[in-house]
Amino acid sequence: MISPHGPSAAQGIHTLTLQNFRSYTQLEISPEGHNIICYGGNGAGKTNLLEAISLLSPGRGLRRARLSDMRLQNSATSRWSIGAHLNSPYGRIDLSTTAQCDTMKERRTCSVFGKTEKTLSALARHISLVWLTPQMDRLFSEGMSSRRRFVDRLCVALYPSYNDLLTTYDTLAKERLMALSTAPDPHWLQALEQQLAEAGLRICHTRQEVCYRLNGQMAQRHSAFPQAMLHPGGDADGLLSMSPETALIFYVDKLSKSRSLDHTHQATTFGPHRFPIDIHHVDKNLAATYCSTGEQKALLLSIILAFTSLMKEYSEGVPVLLLDEVIAHLDEEKRAHLFQELWALQVQIWMTGTDRAPFLTCENHAVLYHVEHATLTKQHAMHQEFMRL
Ligand SMILES: Nc1ncnc2c1ncn2[C@@H]1O[C@H](COP(=O)(O)OP(=O)(O)O)[C@@H](O)[C@H]1O
Ligand SMILES: [Mg+2]
Repeated sequence: MISPHGPSAAQGIHTLTLQNFRSYTQLEISPEGHNIICYGGNGAGKTNLLEAISLLSPGRGLRRARLSDMRLQNSATSRWSIGAHLNSPYGRIDLSTTAQCDTMKERRTCSVFGKTEKTLSALARHISLVWLTPQMDRLFSEGMSSRRRFVDRLCVALYPSYNDLLTTYDTLAKERLMALSTAPDPHWLQALEQQLAEAGLRICHTRQEVCYRLNGQMAQRHSAFPQAMLHPGGDADGLLSMSPETALIFYVDKLSKSRSLDHTHQATTFGPHRFPIDIHHVDKNLAATYCSTGEQKALLLSIILAFTSLMKEYSEGVPVLLLDEVIAHLDEEKRAHLFQELWALQVQIWMTGTDRAPFLTCENHAVLYHVEHATLTKQHAMHQEFMRL
């Protein structure tokens, strides 16, 4: 299924279609793999659009919303769908995802080239998505779960099978908790804990590897944004410093000793779903939690820029970067630096903002759309020569 848009076409989303998704009854746009900037007033439909793209990866998308909340409200429809034709180095790839919201159990499925896949992880093998939204500013102040989710998403973008690993881990943890409520066969329980520990350790190792690569990337990048350092801390640190055999024995022992506690709390008290992820501002030698809001925003940008370079180099899928309202709080100089670094990444970027003016210098690098009432109108750029052509 090689398309007329061969390997030489700009890589990224060629055509995007939405049906009954949030404020969009129907939408089709074709940025042809180029960068795209959507500007428009509040409530126009900009974040909805990025959210739709974010659902071309496994997980709950950039708002972590329920499937039924993303369905076009006040309509008879019970399903929404998102489709994309991707320009990849191997030609065109057709992806789609559909959510069915009328049953008791809401369900999202995906297909590649029209063939339904077993799991949503299949999407991550074709497109590698990373995003930055205003809500992510809270990454440093909220509890650890949002940081873990953030790092886990980065892991999925680099290693699509990591998503299956997370699912396996959750399933095993649930099975163990159920087993603890009954009087299980001790051998079976032991085997279950062994598998859970193996999955938990693989999660720790993948997080460590992705953080390590990301730190390396930030250390070597020349960026106007500060260098960050990510590190799986707490018990993960301890486990990762042991030999694999010792770590497994330690982990299994820990699970075995916490059976009664876990049964009482109906929760697994030890494991990567509880381990912290430390993030530091390197130059200030300070935990990101203690940095100012501005510094935290700059750290996040730095992480996302470095991670996008990593995706470009290593991910299986076509890398795509989604930036929602990121320029809103940057001064003119910082904005110029950001744009310069973004275009240098040479991956498709979808960016939003409320006004056109701050994007004036971008018109040689991106297709501009004005968004109003869930309708996108392409704006004519001053020059038609795109850097990524
Ligand atoms: N499920 C839904 N069905 C219909 N409209 C929705 C749904 N969810 C959100 N909306 C509407 O979508 C509009 C655009 O939202 P959004 O994309 O967040 O705007 P913005 O352009 O400010 O980012 C809002 O007016 C909101 O009420
Ligand atoms: Mg918005």
